[in-house]
Amino acid sequence: MSERTLARLSRWPLRRQLVAGIVMLLVVATAVIGVVTVAVQRHTVLDRVDDQLETVLEAQRSAVEDEAQEIPRMRARSVVVIEADGVEEVAELTDESGVVSPLSDAERHQLLDGAGREPYAETVQLSDHGSYRVTSAALGGGGQVVVGQSLSEVDQTIRDMTLSFTVVGLLGVTLAALGGRWIIRLGLRPLERLARTASQVSQTPLAEGTVSMPSRVQDQDTSPGTEVGQVGAALNRMLDHVEDAIGRRQSSEDQLRRFIADAGHELRTPLAAISAHAQLMERRRTEMPEELGHSSQRIRSESQRMGLLVEDLLLLARLDSGVPLAEEPVELARILVDVSADAQLTAPGHQWHIDLPEGAADLTVRGDAARLHQVVSNLVNNAKDHTPEGTSVILRLRADRADAVEVTVEDDGPGIPEELQPRIFDRFVRGDGARSRGDAEAGQGNTGLGMAICAAIVHAHRGTIRCESRPGRTRFVIRLPAAPHSAGPAASARG
Ligand SMILES: Nc1ncnc2c1ncn2[C@@H]1O[C@H](COP(=O)(O)OP(=O)(O)O)[C@@H](O)[C@H]1O
Ligand SMILES: [Mg+2]
Repeated sequence: MSERTLARLSRWPLRRQLVAGIVMLLVVATAVIGVVTVAVQRHTVLDRVDDQLETVLEAQRSAVEDEAQEIPRMRARSVVVIEADGVEEVAELTDESGVVSPLSDAERHQLLDGAGREPYAETVQLSDHGSYRVTSAALGGGGQVVVGQSLSEVDQTIRDMTLSFTVVGLLGVTLAALGGRWIIRLGLRPLERLARTASQVSQTPLAEGTVSMPSRVQDQDTSPGTEVGQVGAALNRMLDHVEDAIGRRQSSEDQLRRFIADAGHELRTPLAAISAHAQLMERRRTEMPEELGHSSQRIRSESQRMGLLVEDLLLLARLDSGVPLAEEPVELARILVDVSADAQLTAPGHQWHIDLPEGAADLTVRGDAARLHQVVSNLVNNAKDHTPEGTSVILRLRADRADAVEVTVEDDGPGIPEELQPRIFDRFVRGDGARSRGDAEAGQGNTGLGMAICAAIVHAHRGTIRCESRPGRTRFVIRLPAAPHSAGPAASARG
């Protein structure tokens, strides 16, 4: 079998492979048994014919040699040839009904040449009369006698036997194949149940959250006495381990989150105190040397930055822990207008545009207005902080089909560094420019958590956020599921 055929066969389901294997073996075994049986049977029958021939030959010879004796009558379907000095030559065939007819010269010669010498017999094919078993003996006074017996009956018997063997064999193989299929199907059923359990497990998301394995292999498929049972028991043990490991992972994650939340809370108070004292010092800046004044200003700005960082961390920890957000109708157009108005005030050097569709007021989503406001404002702050003055920024709102709303923030600034793009929504990912600008007033809120917070909030609203950026065009697209009642107007506003 070629390698390709083998590879194709191995892709068959196990059940079909087993049935095909069984059928193939049965066919080979039946064929071997049949061929051997028929050959042995033919040999036995020929032996019997040869024994009879021997007797007939003996009778003919003694009749020829002893002239007083009458030549015995031949049996049906036999031939006799006698060639001896002083005796009339005989070359006759007796057919199945006892009618005697002379043999042709050619047939006589065939018999004389082909006959086995006593005690052996040979099979000779007579052109018009089929095959004969033929033996001969030399006569005392010279010459020889040849007798033969037709094999037509033997051949018929062997043909019948072969036919019945083939029919019975095919029937047997068919029955065995059907029975085998049934038994194999029965035997493989536990394996199929195992496969079902395994595929259920494979569809369970294990990466995050509290995970409970959906199912275990049933008790009937875990008995250690069977191979499938051993696999089933091993699978259950493995599932226990995995569940245990995931549980521990989850609890350590929870612990870490609680720790961050607690640390954040604890840091708030001292940070506020530092900030307040720094402000106090700054108010009396004129009274101190310039160097100290600068330091106090740095203390104030850095403590404010740290305060923002702590707030961002706290917010992320809260979003991670899956605390449910508010579920109120949120008018996105209002958020865009507010954020854009704020931006116009805080960054008048940029060109701010807003693009709302007709009936924008009807484009609502269900969620937490304050958090969604934060998403848009983080994006707008980035467009402000990471682009030079004169950059034009456009905020766009669109209904996307009937069931989603899309918010886009696009700028024509220098773009996000390419190596940053795949990780842009990860925590503490920020460009070198943003890092070094950490102390400038413009970069005040740049903690490297802005995009991570956007992604977490959008995901908590069952939405998606994506980023496309190249020099001259940076685009953030947020898709949120539309609130049910906003679907109609949203669709019509579009058309
Ligand atoms: N509109 C933009 N244009 C250029 N770079 C951007 C833009 N938005 C984000 N970035 C890059 O992505 C980084 C990550 O953004 P973000 O998570 O908000 O952190 P950061 O606190 O630095 O703003 C930024 O530091 C900046 O390098
Ligand atoms: Mg930012």
